[in-house]
Amino acid sequence: MGSYAVQLAKAAGAEVTGVCSAAKMDLVRSLGADHVLDYTTQDFADGTKHYDLILDIAGNPTLARLRKALTPTGTAVITGGEEGGSWTGSIDRQFRALALSPFIGQRLTMVMGTQDVADLEYLAGLIDAGTLTPTVDRSYPLEQVPDAMRYFDAGKVRGKIAITIREAQGN
Ligand SMILES: NC(=O)c1ccc[n+]([C@@H]2O[C@H](COP(=O)([O-])OP(=O)(O)OC[C@H]3O[C@@H](n4cnc5c(N)ncnc54)[C@H](OP(=O)(O)O)[C@@H]3O)[C@@H](O)[C@H]2O)c1
Repeated sequence: MGSYAVQLAKAAGAEVTGVCSAAKMDLVRSLGADHVLDYTTQDFADGTKHYDLILDIAGNPTLARLRKALTPTGTAVITGGEEGGSWTGSIDRQFRALALSPFIGQRLTMVMGTQDVADLEYLAGLIDAGTLTPTVDRSYPLEQVPDAMRYFDAGKVRGKIAITIREAQGN
């Protein structure tokens, strides 16, 4: 998500701050981010900077921390949900964000990705125009998907991994 979000935000004219670990700061800068924070040593929510829009992809920051990092009318969009309460599964934080949002000046919301032909054509157009570059770290053939997932789980992927599928001969 992050490797596309940084590029799309830059294409839309935003001043972009990316958050990642030290090993990926060069990559995030190369994607166009104006500022890059290493989350192991820097806190995006330390109150020194306030953001109009936060795309919350990882790290599970509390709603209080998101609010502290937003401008008074800023928006936080929660995309992930790796943890959460037992009865709400993994989207406890999103539910609380949606419940709180109508009562505050800031907007706290969530997004669920959909596969939409028009959106994909829009992205393909940006790729053709050179505005957007998919960051493919490694490609794996279909039969090596377990290796691909182990690499993914280790948190080492820089951007995306791709799975190549060849049509069987005679089909
Ligand atoms: N809502 C939806 O429709 C939707 C769709 C797809 C994915 N998702 C969710 O989005 C999340 C990540 O997606 P992705 O794999 O595409 O992510 P990604 O953007 O490729 O990688 C996550 C980024 O967050 C950084 N990060 C890791 N821990 C962090 C922390 N504690 N604080 C701040 N930043 C941190 C990572 O840095 P390092 O790699 O350097 O550690 C990396 O730059 C997952 O939870 C997934 O379930 C949601």
